[in-house]
Amino acid sequence: MASHRSNIVSIEFDRIAGEENLDAELRTLLDAAKSARERAYAPYSEFKVGAAVLLNNGEIISGNNQENAAYPSGLCAERVALFAAKSAFPNATIVALAVYTNTGETTGEVPSPCGSCRQVMLEYEFMQPDSYRVLMAGSQDTLIVFPRAKELLPFAFTPEELKKA
Ligand code: THU
Repeated sequence: MASHRSNIVSIEFDRIAGEENLDAELRTLLDAAKSARERAYAPYSEFKVGAAVLLNNGEIISGNNQENAAYPSGLCAERVALFAAKSAFPNATIVALAVYTNTGETTGEVPSPCGSCRQVMLEYEFMQPDSYRVLMAGSQDTLIVFPRAKELLPFAFTPEELKKA
């Protein structure tokens, strides 16, 4: 008998060919992320990112990356948007999150949230009964929609872990 068993983690997502093929909800959210990106404060990296969160009360809260001369003090667009949304409406649940940047000009790929943002995305999904959609969109017509945030960070640290200690 084998002393170990290999496992595979899979991530469900849809590739959407062009913004015009997004449903109205995600299109509106993408527009909010795009305009938030314009207002990003990214003088050091010059890499602007916009994000927008749709809540179940109909509110759309957007954010963008905020950098700082003390580099690690800055924050990514996703967390600025998520923290703003949940600080204003702590009892609302998240329906969808859109992230937009200008990556993909050469690669055709979409922006990919960092591990810390994924950790934050996961916790809010963990706290609510339903999962939420995550849209990642780049400057080319490459869009990816994930039905859930949870799969974006396998083996994540969850609030449950604290109870085990
Ligand atoms: N950044 C985001 O805002 N979101 C991401 O998904 C990736 C990176 C920001 C952080 C920093 O201001 C700049 O992009 C370069 O890393």
